[in-house]
Amino acid sequence: MAVPTTKTELYQRILEHTNVAILLFDADLKLRYLNPSAEMLFGASVRQLAGQHFSILINPREPLMDQLVEAVRSMHPFAKHEQLLDLLNGKTVTADLNVTIIQSSFGETELLFEITPIDRLMRISRDDAVYEQQVTTRDLLRSLAHEIKNPLGGLRGAAQLLDRELTSEDQREYTRVIIGEADRLQKLVNRLLGPSGMPKTENINIHQIIEYVRNIVITENDSDIKFHRDYDTSIPEIKGDPDMLVQALLNIVKNAKQALGDSGNITIRTRVLRKFTIGQMKHRIVAKIDIIDDGPGIPGDIKEKIFYPMITGRAEGTGLGLSIAQRLIHQHGGLIECESEPGKTVFSIMLPIEI
Ligand SMILES: Nc1ncnc2c1ncn2[C@@H]1O[C@H](COP(=O)(O)OP(=O)(O)OP(=O)(O)O)[C@@H](O)[C@H]1O
Ligand SMILES: [Mg+2]
Repeated sequence: MAVPTTKTELYQRILEHTNVAILLFDADLKLRYLNPSAEMLFGASVRQLAGQHFSILINPREPLMDQLVEAVRSMHPFAKHEQLLDLLNGKTVTADLNVTIIQSSFGETELLFEITPIDRLMRISRDDAVYEQQVTTRDLLRSLAHEIKNPLGGLRGAAQLLDRELTSEDQREYTRVIIGEADRLQKLVNRLLGPSGMPKTENINIHQIIEYVRNIVITENDSDIKFHRDYDTSIPEIKGDPDMLVQALLNIVKNAKQALGDSGNITIRTRVLRKFTIGQMKHRIVAKIDIIDDGPGIPGDIKEKIFYPMITGRAEGTGLGLSIAQRLIHQHGGLIECESEPGKTVFSIMLPIEI
Protein backbone atom coordinates (compact mmCIF):
# COMPACT_ATOMS: atom_id res chain seq x y z
CA MET A 1 0.00 0.00 0.00
CA ALA A 2 1.38 3.42 -0.94
CA VAL A 3 2.10 5.56 2.09
CA PRO A 4 1.48 9.28 1.59
CA THR A 5 4.74 11.14 1.79
CA THR A 6 3.41 14.57 2.61
CA LYS A 7 0.32 16.01 4.22
CA THR A 8 -0.42 17.95 1.04
CA GLU A 9 -0.41 14.77 -0.94
CA LEU A 10 -2.73 13.13 1.57
CA TYR A 11 -5.19 16.07 1.47
CA GLN A 12 -5.03 16.03 -2.30
CA ARG A 13 -5.93 12.39 -2.36
CA ILE A 14 -8.89 12.86 -0.03
CA LEU A 15 -10.18 15.81 -2.06
CA GLU A 16 -9.91 13.85 -5.25
CA HIS A 17 -11.78 10.83 -3.97
CA THR A 18 -14.53 12.21 -1.78
CA ASN A 19 -18.07 12.00 -3.18
CA VAL A 20 -18.80 15.45 -1.78
CA ALA A 21 -18.50 18.23 -4.36
CA ILE A 22 -16.19 20.86 -2.86
CA LEU A 23 -15.75 24.39 -4.19
CA LEU A 24 -13.63 27.23 -2.84
CA PHE A 25 -14.49 30.85 -3.66
CA ASP A 26 -12.86 34.16 -2.88
CA ALA A 27 -14.78 36.95 -1.13
CA ASP A 28 -16.22 38.09 -4.49
CA LEU A 29 -17.57 34.58 -5.06
CA LYS A 30 -15.08 33.90 -7.82
CA LEU A 31 -14.06 30.28 -8.02
CA ARG A 32 -10.58 29.32 -6.82
CA TYR A 33 -10.83 25.56 -6.73
CA LEU A 34 -13.22 22.67 -7.30
CA ASN A 35 -12.57 18.99 -6.72
CA PRO A 36 -13.30 16.20 -9.25
CA SER A 37 -16.74 15.49 -7.73
CA ALA A 38 -17.66 19.14 -8.29
CA GLU A 39 -16.30 18.95 -11.83
CA MET A 40 -18.58 15.97 -12.44
CA LEU A 41 -21.58 17.72 -10.93
CA PHE A 42 -21.17 20.89 -12.97
CA GLY A 43 -19.87 19.10 -16.04
CA ALA A 44 -16.84 21.38 -16.43
CA SER A 45 -13.19 21.30 -15.45
CA VAL A 46 -11.23 23.37 -13.00
CA ARG A 47 -9.48 25.03 -15.95
CA GLN A 48 -12.76 26.13 -17.51
CA LEU A 49 -14.24 27.42 -14.28
CA ALA A 50 -11.38 28.94 -12.26
CA GLY A 51 -11.86 32.68 -11.81
CA GLN A 52 -15.52 32.54 -12.85
CA HIS A 53 -18.28 33.96 -10.68
CA PHE A 54 -20.60 31.62 -8.77
CA SER A 55 -23.53 32.83 -10.89
CA ILE A 56 -22.35 30.81 -13.91
CA LEU A 57 -22.86 27.57 -12.00
CA ILE A 58 -26.28 27.88 -10.46
CA ASN A 59 -29.44 29.56 -11.66
CA PRO A 60 -29.07 33.18 -10.47
CA ARG A 61 -32.73 33.16 -9.47
CA GLU A 62 -31.84 30.72 -6.68
CA PRO A 63 -32.10 32.46 -3.27
CA LEU A 64 -28.83 30.72 -2.53
CA MET A 65 -26.95 33.47 -4.35
CA ASP A 66 -28.06 36.14 -1.84
CA GLN A 67 -27.40 33.78 1.04
CA LEU A 68 -23.80 33.27 -0.07
CA VAL A 69 -23.19 37.00 -0.45
CA GLU A 70 -24.67 37.50 3.01
CA ALA A 71 -22.54 34.68 4.46
CA VAL A 72 -19.36 36.38 3.22
CA ARG A 73 -20.51 39.78 4.46
CA SER A 74 -21.55 38.60 7.93
CA MET A 75 -18.86 35.88 8.13
CA HIS A 76 -21.60 33.44 9.13
CA PRO A 77 -21.51 29.84 7.92
CA PHE A 78 -24.74 28.00 7.16
CA ALA A 79 -26.05 24.56 6.25
CA LYS A 80 -29.14 23.49 4.32
CA HIS A 81 -30.72 20.09 4.01
CA GLU A 82 -32.43 18.58 0.99
CA GLN A 83 -32.13 21.70 -1.15
CA LEU A 84 -33.26 21.51 -4.73
CA LEU A 85 -30.55 23.12 -6.85
CA ASP A 86 -31.15 24.27 -10.38
CA LEU A 87 -27.75 24.06 -12.09
CA LEU A 88 -27.04 26.07 -15.19
CA ASN A 89 -25.84 22.97 -17.04
CA GLY A 90 -29.46 21.81 -17.09
CA LYS A 91 -29.23 19.38 -14.17
CA THR A 92 -31.39 19.56 -11.08
CA VAL A 93 -30.05 17.98 -7.93
CA THR A 94 -31.28 17.56 -4.41
CA ALA A 95 -28.40 18.04 -2.05
CA ASP A 96 -27.28 18.87 1.46
CA LEU A 97 -25.26 22.08 1.45
CA ASN A 98 -22.59 23.30 3.81
CA VAL A 99 -21.08 26.76 3.62
CA THR A 100 -18.05 27.65 5.72
CA ILE A 101 -16.21 30.98 5.84
CA ILE A 102 -12.44 30.63 6.07
CA GLN A 103 -9.66 33.12 6.66
CA SER A 104 -6.69 32.17 4.52
CA SER A 105 -3.15 32.42 5.91
CA PHE A 106 -2.83 35.69 3.96
CA GLY A 107 -5.80 37.12 5.83
CA GLU A 108 -8.16 36.76 2.88
CA THR A 109 -11.76 35.68 3.31
CA GLU A 110 -12.72 32.55 1.42
CA LEU A 111 -15.93 30.60 1.15
CA LEU A 112 -15.91 26.82 1.20
CA PHE A 113 -18.98 25.29 -0.39
CA GLU A 114 -19.73 21.59 0.05
CA ILE A 115 -22.52 19.88 -1.90
CA THR A 116 -23.61 16.35 -1.00
CA PRO A 117 -26.09 15.14 -3.62
CA ILE A 118 -28.80 12.98 -2.06
CA ASP A 119 -30.99 12.19 -5.06
CA ARG A 120 -30.01 8.54 -5.13
CA LEU A 121 -30.60 8.11 -1.40
CA MET A 122 -33.94 9.84 -1.54
CA ARG A 123 -35.11 7.68 -4.37
CA ILE A 124 -34.18 4.54 -2.47
CA SER A 125 -35.97 5.51 0.72
CA ARG A 126 -38.98 6.68 -1.25
CA ASP A 127 -39.06 3.44 -3.14
CA ASP A 128 -38.99 1.45 0.06
CA ALA A 129 -41.87 3.36 1.61
CA VAL A 130 -43.91 3.23 -1.58
CA TYR A 131 -43.15 -0.43 -2.05
CA GLU A 132 -44.46 -1.19 1.45
CA GLN A 133 -47.72 0.58 0.62
CA GLN A 134 -47.99 -1.29 -2.66
CA VAL A 135 -47.50 -4.59 -0.86
CA THR A 136 -50.29 -3.75 1.60
CA THR A 137 -52.70 -2.79 -1.18
CA ARG A 138 -51.75 -5.85 -3.19
CA ASP A 139 -52.20 -8.20 -0.23
CA LEU A 140 -55.62 -6.73 0.43
CA LEU A 141 -56.69 -7.29 -3.15
CA ARG A 142 -55.26 -10.79 -3.17
CA SER A 143 -57.29 -11.71 -0.07
CA LEU A 144 -60.37 -10.29 -1.72
CA ALA A 145 -59.65 -12.23 -4.92
CA HIS A 146 -59.20 -15.37 -2.86
CA GLU A 147 -62.59 -14.86 -1.22
CA ILE A 148 -64.28 -14.33 -4.59
CA LYS A 149 -62.70 -17.33 -6.29
CA ASN A 150 -64.73 -20.15 -4.67
CA PRO A 151 -68.24 -18.66 -4.76
CA LEU A 152 -67.56 -17.61 -8.31
CA GLY A 153 -66.79 -21.19 -9.27
CA GLY A 154 -70.06 -22.22 -7.59
CA LEU A 155 -72.06 -19.62 -9.49
CA ARG A 156 -70.57 -20.63 -12.80
CA GLY A 157 -71.19 -24.35 -12.14
CA ALA A 158 -74.82 -23.70 -11.19
CA ALA A 159 -75.36 -21.56 -14.29
CA GLN A 160 -73.96 -24.36 -16.42
CA LEU A 161 -76.29 -26.93 -14.88
CA LEU A 162 -79.22 -24.60 -15.38
CA ASP A 163 -78.14 -24.02 -18.97
CA ARG A 164 -78.47 -27.76 -19.64
CA GLU A 165 -81.94 -27.87 -18.10
CA LEU A 166 -83.30 -25.00 -20.13
CA THR A 167 -84.93 -25.74 -23.42
CA SER A 168 -85.76 -22.26 -24.67
CA GLU A 169 -82.92 -20.51 -26.52
CA ASP A 170 -84.24 -17.17 -25.24
CA GLN A 171 -83.80 -18.27 -21.65
CA ARG A 172 -80.40 -19.77 -22.32
CA GLU A 173 -79.26 -16.29 -23.39
CA TYR A 174 -79.35 -15.40 -19.68
CA THR A 175 -77.33 -18.37 -18.50
CA ARG A 176 -74.76 -17.65 -21.20
CA VAL A 177 -74.41 -14.10 -19.90
CA ILE A 178 -73.84 -15.43 -16.39
CA ILE A 179 -71.23 -17.92 -17.61
CA GLY A 180 -69.49 -15.36 -19.82
CA GLU A 181 -69.30 -12.76 -17.08
CA ALA A 182 -68.18 -15.37 -14.52
CA ASP A 183 -65.33 -16.28 -16.88
CA ARG A 184 -64.35 -12.64 -17.21
CA LEU A 185 -64.32 -12.25 -13.43
CA GLN A 186 -62.37 -15.48 -13.08
CA LYS A 187 -59.63 -14.10 -15.31
CA LEU A 188 -59.46 -10.93 -13.25
CA VAL A 189 -59.33 -12.91 -10.02
CA ASN A 190 -56.52 -15.08 -11.38
CA ARG A 191 -54.52 -12.03 -12.37
CA LEU A 192 -55.16 -10.46 -8.97
CA LEU A 193 -53.84 -13.58 -7.29
CA GLY A 194 -50.89 -13.35 -9.63
CA PRO A 195 -48.10 -15.85 -10.13
CA SER A 196 -47.43 -17.63 -6.89
CA GLY A 197 -44.46 -19.35 -5.36
CA MET A 198 -40.85 -18.46 -4.98
CA PRO A 199 -38.60 -17.93 -8.00
CA LYS A 200 -37.00 -21.11 -9.31
CA THR A 201 -33.65 -19.64 -10.06
CA GLU A 202 -31.10 -20.72 -12.62
CA ASN A 203 -28.24 -19.00 -14.40
CA ILE A 204 -29.67 -16.99 -17.23
CA ASN A 205 -28.50 -14.74 -19.96
CA ILE A 206 -30.67 -11.67 -19.69
CA HIS A 207 -30.53 -11.05 -23.44
CA GLN A 208 -32.17 -14.42 -24.12
CA ILE A 209 -35.10 -13.35 -21.95
CA ILE A 210 -35.31 -10.01 -23.73
CA GLU A 211 -35.16 -11.60 -27.17
CA TYR A 212 -37.88 -14.06 -26.19
CA VAL A 213 -40.17 -11.22 -25.11
CA ARG A 214 -39.25 -9.22 -28.18
CA ASN A 215 -40.26 -12.11 -30.43
CA ILE A 216 -43.62 -12.53 -28.71
CA VAL A 217 -44.41 -8.85 -29.14
CA ILE A 218 -43.12 -8.66 -32.70
CA THR A 219 -45.17 -11.71 -33.71
CA GLU A 220 -48.30 -10.07 -32.33
CA ASN A 221 -47.38 -6.74 -33.86
CA ASP A 222 -50.06 -5.48 -36.20
CA SER A 223 -48.90 -1.87 -36.20
CA ASP A 224 -46.08 0.33 -37.46
CA ILE A 225 -44.18 0.16 -34.19
CA LYS A 226 -40.44 -0.27 -34.65
CA PHE A 227 -38.33 -2.21 -32.19
CA HIS A 228 -34.70 -1.30 -31.54
CA ARG A 229 -31.99 -3.05 -29.58
CA ASP A 230 -29.12 -1.44 -27.72
CA TYR A 231 -27.47 -4.23 -25.75
CA ASP A 232 -24.39 -4.35 -23.61
CA THR A 233 -23.49 -7.95 -24.33
CA SER A 234 -20.82 -7.97 -21.63
CA ILE A 235 -23.48 -8.34 -18.90
CA PRO A 236 -22.69 -11.50 -16.91
CA GLU A 237 -25.33 -14.17 -16.35
CA ILE A 238 -27.80 -13.50 -13.57
CA LYS A 239 -29.59 -15.82 -11.21
CA GLY A 240 -33.28 -15.68 -11.92
CA ASP A 241 -36.52 -17.42 -12.76
CA PRO A 242 -36.90 -17.18 -16.56
CA ASP A 243 -40.72 -17.41 -16.56
CA MET A 244 -41.06 -14.69 -13.97
CA LEU A 245 -38.64 -12.38 -15.74
CA VAL A 246 -40.37 -12.94 -19.08
CA GLN A 247 -43.69 -12.08 -17.48
CA ALA A 248 -42.35 -8.88 -15.85
CA LEU A 249 -40.67 -7.66 -19.00
CA LEU A 250 -43.63 -8.57 -21.19
CA ASN A 251 -45.98 -6.51 -19.02
CA ILE A 252 -43.78 -3.45 -19.45
CA VAL A 253 -43.16 -3.88 -23.17
CA LYS A 254 -46.88 -4.44 -23.79
CA ASN A 255 -47.66 -1.22 -21.96
CA ALA A 256 -45.22 0.65 -24.19
CA LYS A 257 -46.85 -0.87 -27.24
CA GLN A 258 -50.34 0.02 -26.03
CA ALA A 259 -49.23 3.57 -25.23
CA LEU A 260 -47.84 3.99 -28.75
CA GLY A 261 -50.96 2.78 -30.54
CA ASP A 262 -50.35 2.57 -34.29
CA SER A 263 -46.81 3.79 -34.65
CA GLY A 264 -43.69 4.76 -32.75
CA ASN A 265 -40.45 3.32 -31.44
CA ILE A 266 -39.61 0.97 -28.61
CA THR A 267 -35.97 0.57 -27.65
CA ILE A 268 -34.70 -2.05 -25.26
CA ARG A 269 -31.34 -1.04 -23.82
CA THR A 270 -29.18 -3.01 -21.43
CA ARG A 271 -26.34 -1.71 -19.31
CA VAL A 272 -24.24 -2.68 -16.32
CA LEU A 273 -24.35 -0.42 -13.28
CA ARG A 274 -21.62 -0.49 -10.71
CA LYS A 275 -22.02 0.09 -6.97
CA PHE A 276 -25.77 0.36 -6.99
CA THR A 277 -27.99 0.26 -3.90
CA ILE A 278 -31.38 -1.44 -3.97
CA GLY A 279 -33.33 -1.12 -0.75
CA GLN A 280 -30.70 -1.51 1.93
CA MET A 281 -28.48 -3.77 -0.19
CA LYS A 282 -25.36 -2.47 -1.87
CA HIS A 283 -24.55 -4.38 -5.04
CA ARG A 284 -21.23 -4.42 -6.80
CA ILE A 285 -22.89 -4.81 -10.18
CA VAL A 286 -26.44 -4.63 -11.36
CA ALA A 287 -28.02 -5.32 -14.76
CA LYS A 288 -30.19 -2.46 -15.98
CA ILE A 289 -32.81 -3.05 -18.65
CA ASP A 290 -34.46 0.09 -20.02
CA ILE A 291 -37.65 -0.10 -22.04
CA ILE A 292 -37.96 3.22 -23.80
CA ASP A 293 -40.85 4.45 -25.91
CA ASP A 294 -41.56 7.73 -27.64
CA GLY A 295 -45.28 7.70 -26.92
CA PRO A 296 -47.44 10.26 -25.12
CA GLY A 297 -46.08 9.52 -21.62
CA ILE A 298 -47.90 8.44 -18.49
CA PRO A 299 -51.02 10.50 -17.78
CA GLY A 300 -50.21 13.07 -15.05
CA ASP A 301 -53.06 12.09 -12.75
CA ILE A 302 -51.84 8.49 -12.32
CA LYS A 303 -48.08 9.02 -12.67
CA GLU A 304 -47.34 8.55 -8.97
CA LYS A 305 -49.64 5.55 -8.62
CA ILE A 306 -48.97 3.30 -11.63
CA PHE A 307 -47.32 0.55 -9.59
CA TYR A 308 -50.40 0.17 -7.40
CA PRO A 309 -52.82 -2.58 -8.39
CA MET A 310 -55.93 -1.56 -10.32
CA ILE A 311 -54.58 1.81 -11.37
CA THR A 312 -55.08 2.16 -15.08
CA GLY A 313 -55.18 4.88 -17.68
CA ARG A 314 -56.68 2.62 -20.32
CA ALA A 315 -60.39 1.96 -20.81
CA GLU A 316 -59.79 -1.78 -21.23
CA GLY A 317 -56.92 -2.03 -18.72
CA THR A 318 -57.09 -3.86 -15.40
CA GLY A 319 -54.18 -1.93 -13.91
CA LEU A 320 -52.39 -5.08 -12.78
CA GLY A 321 -49.50 -5.36 -15.23
CA LEU A 322 -47.03 -3.10 -13.44
CA SER A 323 -48.02 -4.22 -9.98
CA ILE A 324 -47.28 -7.83 -10.98
CA ALA A 325 -44.03 -6.84 -12.70
CA GLN A 326 -42.91 -4.92 -9.62
CA ARG A 327 -43.58 -7.93 -7.39
CA LEU A 328 -41.74 -10.34 -9.69
CA ILE A 329 -38.68 -8.11 -9.94
CA HIS A 330 -38.71 -7.51 -6.19
CA GLN A 331 -38.65 -11.27 -5.66
CA HIS A 332 -35.35 -11.20 -7.54
CA GLY A 333 -33.98 -8.53 -5.21
CA GLY A 334 -34.47 -5.96 -7.96
CA LEU A 335 -36.32 -2.75 -8.56
CA ILE A 336 -38.33 -1.02 -11.30
CA GLU A 337 -38.09 2.71 -11.80
CA CYS A 338 -39.89 4.92 -14.24
CA GLU A 339 -39.37 8.34 -15.76
CA SER A 340 -41.88 9.72 -18.17
CA GLU A 341 -42.58 12.86 -20.16
CA PRO A 342 -44.46 13.28 -23.43
CA GLY A 343 -42.26 11.75 -26.14
CA LYS A 344 -40.10 9.73 -23.77
CA THR A 345 -41.04 7.11 -21.22
CA VAL A 346 -38.38 4.93 -19.67
CA PHE A 347 -39.06 1.94 -17.46
CA SER A 348 -35.85 0.62 -15.91
CA ILE A 349 -35.55 -2.84 -14.41
CA MET A 350 -32.57 -3.22 -12.12
CA LEU A 351 -31.47 -6.78 -11.31
CA PRO A 352 -28.57 -7.56 -8.99
CA ILE A 353 -25.81 -9.75 -10.37
CA GLU A 354 -24.05 -11.87 -7.80
CA ILE A 355 -20.60 -12.91 -8.93
N1 LIG B 1 -45.05 3.19 -21.52
C1 LIG B 1 -46.13 3.81 -21.07
N2 LIG B 1 -46.54 4.99 -21.60
C2 LIG B 1 -47.64 5.62 -21.13
N3 LIG B 1 -48.40 5.17 -20.11
C3 LIG B 1 -48.05 4.03 -19.54
C4 LIG B 1 -46.91 3.28 -19.97
N4 LIG B 1 -46.80 2.18 -19.18
C5 LIG B 1 -47.84 2.23 -18.32
N5 LIG B 1 -48.59 3.32 -18.52
C6 LIG B 1 -49.80 3.73 -17.78
O1 LIG B 1 -49.82 3.02 -16.57
C7 LIG B 1 -51.08 2.35 -16.42
C8 LIG B 1 -50.90 1.12 -15.56
O2 LIG B 1 -50.23 0.09 -16.28
P1 LIG B 1 -50.48 -1.44 -15.89
O3 LIG B 1 -49.69 -2.28 -16.81
O4 LIG B 1 -50.27 -1.61 -14.44
O5 LIG B 1 -52.00 -1.62 -16.16
P2 LIG B 1 -52.81 -1.65 -17.54
O6 LIG B 1 -51.86 -1.74 -18.68
O7 LIG B 1 -53.75 -0.50 -17.52
O8 LIG B 1 -53.65 -2.98 -17.41
P3 LIG B 1 -53.11 -4.50 -17.53
O9 LIG B 1 -51.62 -4.46 -17.68
O10 LIG B 1 -53.50 -5.14 -16.23
O11 LIG B 1 -53.79 -5.05 -18.69
C9 LIG B 1 -51.53 2.11 -17.83
O12 LIG B 1 -52.93 1.97 -17.89
C10 LIG B 1 -51.06 3.37 -18.55
O13 LIG B 1 -51.98 4.42 -18.37
MG1 LIG C 1 -50.36 -3.22 -18.65
